[in-house]
Amino acid sequence: MIYFLDTADTAAIARLADLYPIAGVTTNPTLIAREKRPFADIIKDIRAVIGDGAMLHVQVTGNDADTMVAEARKLADFVGAGFHPKVPVTAEGIKAIRRLSGLGFRVTATAIVTAQQALMAAVAGAAFTAPYVNRLDMIGGDGVRVVADIVHLFRIHALPTRLLTASFKNVQQVHDIAMAGAHSATLPPDILEALIRHPLTDSGIAGFAADWAAAYGEGRTTADLI
Ligand code: G3P
Repeated sequence: MIYFLDTADTAAIARLADLYPIAGVTTNPTLIAREKRPFADIIKDIRAVIGDGAMLHVQVTGNDADTMVAEARKLADFVGAGFHPKVPVTAEGIKAIRRLSGLGFRVTATAIVTAQQALMAAVAGAAFTAPYVNRLDMIGGDGVRVVADIVHLFRIHALPTRLLTASFKNVQQVHDIAMAGAHSATLPPDILEALIRHPLTDSGIAGFAADWAAAYGEGRTTADLI
């Protein structure tokens, strides 16, 4: 499993990338707009925090293939190594994915809500496909089922395209897509942190600490005793 952070909040990225095995950051126009500061500054700051070469997925905002390709080319120079253009799976987006992958870009096809959209993007040459799990669940769909279908389709059609599952609102959704065989997930900071949180873990650790302190003294570690 490859974990990404789905945020443009550089303070959160800095804190969590220090703690967790994060392969990179994904953004979208909504996440960028939420920061209320210049786009170029946000991208520069994210790059500074995650380091050169770490994956940084930035979405193009044009509506036609020519504009999307031009955006991706310019962003590539600006973002540097590890840049992945995110391209939505409209008809013009599929055209842009074909052209960009032909030019050597590692494209992330985004705004995916059906397995057929993912299959089309993969055949067009996308490196990643980003199905939106929670957005489907919220309207009575089955986001995990769509992810499982994509995993199955890529396997039986021997497609090298990876899944970059997106749109999560709870830990169960992340567990279910991992069980379905998804390769990676991009998570909001609160969901990433919730993945390992459990009150039994907290109480277990508190018990160890109390027993240790009673026997060897407060604040002493194993390194102090050997
Ligand atoms: O980046 C796209 C995806 O992660 C959207 O998530 O939470 O807005 O449904 P959300």
